[in-house]
Amino acid sequence: MRSLLAAAALALLAGSALAQPTFATPQDAIKYRQATLKEMQQNFKRVADMAGGRAEFDAKTAEASAARAAELIKLPWAAFGPGTEGGKASPAIWKEQDKFKAAAAKAEAEVGKLAVAAKTGSLDAIKAAIGPAGASCKACHDAFRE
Ligand code: HEC
Repeated sequence: MRSLLAAAALALLAGSALAQPTFATPQDAIKYRQATLKEMQQNFKRVADMAGGRAEFDAKTAEASAARAAELIKLPWAAFGPGTEGGKASPAIWKEQDKFKAAAAKAEAEVGKLAVAAKTGSLDAIKAAIGPAGASCKACHDAFRE
């Protein structure tokens, strides 16, 4: 787990487009995507809880968490390569690659907008962005997560 997160951190430092991780085994890929999704979700939830009034709004925490979520959401998709079926991933991912990639791109865009909103320090802007971002998670989970 520690080395997976270190790999994720390295990919972040290097810029995820340049540092496509490689995996020794399918199990490594599954662990990596689950770890990055989990850490992304922890950051996303912190912002969602503030937007939903379940946590006190703190602009600095919201900005940092949304920025981290926006970076982390770029990482899991490289770990859904050929032969990495498993975990809670639906086999449909490998049959409908274009649809899956489009859903990933949509979520990257929406969480990116959330990070821009959080940077303004406005809770209203965050509230406006959190719905579409959450919907982009759900759309993919409904289609591609078991
Ligand atoms: C493009 C598709 C897609 C999008 C977009 C997506 N997810 Fe997922 N998510 C998955 C799949 C597939 C899995 C199961 C991965 C596995 O088990 O191998 C998953 C698993 C997870 C998990 C479980 C990780 C673990 O601990 O095993 C969390 C948490 C999660 N997603 C949160 C989110 C949140 C929050 C968003 C939106 C900000 C999001 N996801 C967007 C496809 C997606």
